[in-house]
Amino acid sequence: MTVPETAALTDVLGKLQLEHWLGPLLALQAERMSPSAHGDFEHWQEVVTRLRSASNDAERRRFLLQLAPWRKGPFDIGGVHIDAEWRSDLKWQRVAGAIAPLADRRVLDVGCGNGYYALRMADAGAVAVLGIDPTLLYVMQFLAVIAHLPSQPVAVLPLRLHELPGACHAFDSTFSMGVLYHQRSPLEHLQQLRATLRRGGQLVLETIYMPGEESCACTPPDRYARMKNVWLLPTLTELTTWLRRSGFRDVEIVDTTITTSEEQRSTQWMSFESLAEALDPEDSTRTVEGWPAPHRVVATATAP
Ligand SMILES: C[S@@+](CC[C@H](N)C(=O)[O-])C[C@H]1O[C@@H](n2cnc3c(N)ncnc32)[C@H](O)[C@@H]1O
Repeated sequence: MTVPETAALTDVLGKLQLEHWLGPLLALQAERMSPSAHGDFEHWQEVVTRLRSASNDAERRRFLLQLAPWRKGPFDIGGVHIDAEWRSDLKWQRVAGAIAPLADRRVLDVGCGNGYYALRMADAGAVAVLGIDPTLLYVMQFLAVIAHLPSQPVAVLPLRLHELPGACHAFDSTFSMGVLYHQRSPLEHLQQLRATLRRGGQLVLETIYMPGEESCACTPPDRYARMKNVWLLPTLTELTTWLRRSGFRDVEIVDTTITTSEEQRSTQWMSFESLAEALDPEDSTRTVEGWPAPHRVVATATAP
């Protein structure tokens, strides 16, 4: 961890009134952001360092491509446009207008990826945003992105939700977007999210759901849309029940959408297979495994 990175985290935790988290979070960060935690760490760190002093866009582009795959974006860094797999700006359009305004709010973004949304949240006026995501490459991408930005009240740490130091009840808004279906115990995830929120704080939950009127959830026996880490997909009624049983009130479904190949696709910055290859070539309303194609919901709820 460099001196400016420690200073940025100190500043963010101060704004979040979570100064007492600094020691435990720095210790976890030092453990995770190390050559022993990931064989590519030193290479990524060198890329970020060299990017900071890159003198032209061709050089910047070359370094940024070394941090591929870029799943979330787009970003414009200097004159380089990162056309990531996901048009995350489209999700942000659906979310931003449907939630409590972020001005002056202390925000937690769980499963923040490379910090795309955390930076949008700061732009929307949040006092500070703490993003957490266990995937180290995404944390390195965040460091690359902010290398060319003026100072932001945003920190991204390589952590899972349950690794935060205790139930803090400190945040005005907590986001969990694209994370719930990756949890083996979604109700536990919802309870942990609730413990991050102050009384009256807002949860913004975005996830995949199963279409249908009944109250039930499906566990794919193997893969869902080629992803092997999808555990439980609820209908909207079931999701509402999960939120209420986890202690939330004022549960509202504020948006539903079916993911399109305009929003999720392979690009030069993420050259592996994407949504098109996960859908049945004969029937794009089905995944290759025969499940309904990804339907996504944005729900909001209040912590009492
Ligand atoms: C599908 S991506 C969603 C990224 C972004 N939030 C979005 O909506 O586009 C899910 C992310 O959640 C992270 N993740 C999975 N389990 C997590 C946990 N328990 N705590 C924090 N992040 C988690 C993964 O590393 C991954 O980057």
